[in-house]
Amino acid sequence: MPIDQDTLEALQLAARAGSDYRQRTVDAATTPVDSYAQVLARFAEPVPETGGVPTEIIADLIARADGGIRAMTGPRFFGWVIGSSHPTGVAADWLTSAWGQNAANVVAAPAACAVEAVVAGWVLDLLDLPRESSVGVVSGATVANTVCLAAARGEVLRRAGWDVEADGLFGAPEITVMIGADAHATVFSGLRYLGLGAKRVIEIATDSLGRMLASDLAERLESHSGPLIVIAQAGQINTGVSDPFAQIAPLVRKAGGWLHVDGAFGLWAAASSKHRHLVAGVEQADSWGTDGHKWLQTPYDGSFAIVRDEAAHRRAMSITASYLPGAAPSERDPTSYVMELSRRARGFAMWAMIRQLGRTGVAAMVEQDIAVAQAMAAGMAAIEGAELIAMPELNQFMVRFGDSDDLTRAVLAQVQEDAVAFIGGSEWRGQWVMRVSVCSIATTPEDGRITVDAVRAAWEKVRARG
Ligand SMILES: Cc1ncc(COP(=O)(O)O)c(C=O)c1O
Repeated sequence: MPIDQDTLEALQLAARAGSDYRQRTVDAATTPVDSYAQVLARFAEPVPETGGVPTEIIADLIARADGGIRAMTGPRFFGWVIGSSHPTGVAADWLTSAWGQNAANVVAAPAACAVEAVVAGWVLDLLDLPRESSVGVVSGATVANTVCLAAARGEVLRRAGWDVEADGLFGAPEITVMIGADAHATVFSGLRYLGLGAKRVIEIATDSLGRMLASDLAERLESHSGPLIVIAQAGQINTGVSDPFAQIAPLVRKAGGWLHVDGAFGLWAAASSKHRHLVAGVEQADSWGTDGHKWLQTPYDGSFAIVRDEAAHRRAMSITASYLPGAAPSERDPTSYVMELSRRARGFAMWAMIRQLGRTGVAAMVEQDIAVAQAMAAGMAAIEGAELIAMPELNQFMVRFGDSDDLTRAVLAQVQEDAVAFIGGSEWRGQWVMRVSVCSIATTPEDGRITVDAVRAAWEKVRARG
């Protein structure tokens, strides 16, 4: 059946509207957005009884959604660790949808699988991780960490003579999980999914900024025996600091354990020769989870589950069935490294972004974001009555205003209302803070300066109210 004219126009309308949106928001502050309730009211209606006309559906989607689209791709979005969904990645992603590939196997989707194989190698190269590692292309760091921890669980039990993939966890030797006290919430979700328990962990003490204390880990390991997984991180969500991998990794190895690193964004410091020291020794770990949709600027969503021991990765994840064509020995079977069978062909957007930036572009972006974060932090520290929690070594920092949580909350609300920049809050060591994440290629030093001025103005308004 030929594609009718209206359907073609709907595709073009979407492309035009998407391009216009990016043009409109290229220098945007944060677009003031409608609330969830307002947007829900525009969408909420019973299941349509009859079908519709493509152009009308797409035009209606744009009209109803528009006010609820936050300018996350804009240059002054500092709310969470979110990349810019770079237009080149978006264009590749549009094609990904249009091509409609299910990246499950090489026979079904040769291009999707081939590109993914290339991207897997490129990522190991950019981050300078062991080249023999296998890479699963998944949706986000939550899943990437979970995939890696599944491989870890299988391997540490295999060494203890137990086949968890076949026999499950009932009756298995106990696994000890040690994790830094300031690990990301989603890692605990991964532990829950894997039957390892979010609470059944030993928390390793951290310093004032959230770095794991190698001395505490060493002490805990002294009395340890049996299967062991240690979870470290590159890039603490509030402070951006990374654990001392060069000290941690030999301890874990000596104890016969598996070291996993949640490097959702912080691992990208490795792509810059100037900042690689921040994650020194990270390549000694056994597995790493990291996002494309953060510092690689790919559109949502895309992430990498990287495991040094390919066999452990495959044992944990492989899916086989007679109707599914397996890969030849020379081919990379993408399904062996991820949880899903049917899967979006995320490799296209990742390939496009790495082509767009190149090795030097990735490094320059990381370096610029860190420089902007440091300049912004210095600028905010100079505001009278503001307290910088610590000068960032990476892209994350925190500021408090006055001496109460309420004042800090009021400044945050004012910044969001003024809509020059979007910044979020967090709790750190029992106190409410403004938390700034600089993770976009769109953010320039000038955006940093404009944002510092906006924060100063918001604080003055709050003070003037008394
Ligand atoms: C350190 C860290 N780990 C894990 C995650 C979860 O990543 P995702 O949202 O891609 O699943 C994040 C998200 O910000 C993070 O910063």
